[in-house]
Amino acid sequence: MPEKDELLSHPVIDLLMKRRSTRSFDDKKIPQAIIDTIKKATLRAPTAGNQVFYSVIEVEDQQRKERLARLCDNQPMIAKAPLVWLFLADVDKWNTYYRESGSMEKGKAQGIEVPETGLGEFLLATDDALIAAQNAVIAAESFGIGSCYIGDILENHEEIVSLFSLSQHVAVATLVIFGYPKSKNALPVQSIRPPSDTVFMKDTYTPYTIETLRYAYGKQEEDARKKKRLPFDNTGSIADEYYFRKHTSDFMKEMNRSSELIIRRWKDPDCQETE
Ligand SMILES: Cc1cc2nc3c(=O)[nH]c(=O)nc-3n(C[C@H](O)[C@H](O)[C@H](O)COP(=O)(O)O)c2cc1C
Repeated sequence: MPEKDELLSHPVIDLLMKRRSTRSFDDKKIPQAIIDTIKKATLRAPTAGNQVFYSVIEVEDQQRKERLARLCDNQPMIAKAPLVWLFLADVDKWNTYYRESGSMEKGKAQGIEVPETGLGEFLLATDDALIAAQNAVIAAESFGIGSCYIGDILENHEEIVSLFSLSQHVAVATLVIFGYPKSKNALPVQSIRPPSDTVFMKDTYTPYTIETLRYAYGKQEEDARKKKRLPFDNTGSIADEYYFRKHTSDFMKEMNRSSELIIRRWKDPDCQETE
């Protein structure tokens, strides 16, 4: 059996271990042949029932990119990224196929009513889209192309729907921006993760205790304190940092409102905005 360190140097593992989010891009265009290869690698991602319940919109138009950057909690890097892919959970394409090819009619003739497109399909299609997105991220990374997920795509759903003309059973899963990193020196240092024994469990769920959580996020807290990034004049904890900056933030309120709309719209095309 090879040594642990030797296993870590396996090329795929090495790529995974070194990846980090890139938020500052060189102007250099990504050659089309490389984009096409990333598309092929994306499509090789596992997909539920081999149905490919997702679609990807490449956002090329600059005005659209700028609007997207504003709608995603004002992140200008989205408009500056050379490649922007919107991953969509897409059950609509199969509903069209079932309807247009006559499957629905054949079903009705056998007494099978057309079922509602439910939350099971929503989650399955979202799984599909996210798994495909990560294939794209890793394929890009293998060509030296950095990327960053944009979770704020879950905000402002009404406007996202109209910006991209999304039909009822097409929902945003994630947005990924890609590009060559501006410079090797501009690459952020690798982020710190909790130790694996605080994430991987055996056979049953073990609720976290405050001690386990402090151990899990201790290194992050230490690092943030060194950089004087913690709240309350750097006397706060990493829990305080996330609680005030994320969990209680306006953007999280908007993300929760908008996400509720994503689900309600999936179930009811006429649903109105949520408060
Ligand atoms: C679901 C998801 C949403 C994210 N949303 C954003 C975002 O809106 N803006 C951003 O700058 N980074 C975003 N990120 C990137 C994370 O901040 C980043 O992955 C994390 O800090 C760990 O850093 P690393 O990717 O360099 O390891 C997101 C990542 C994920 C997986």
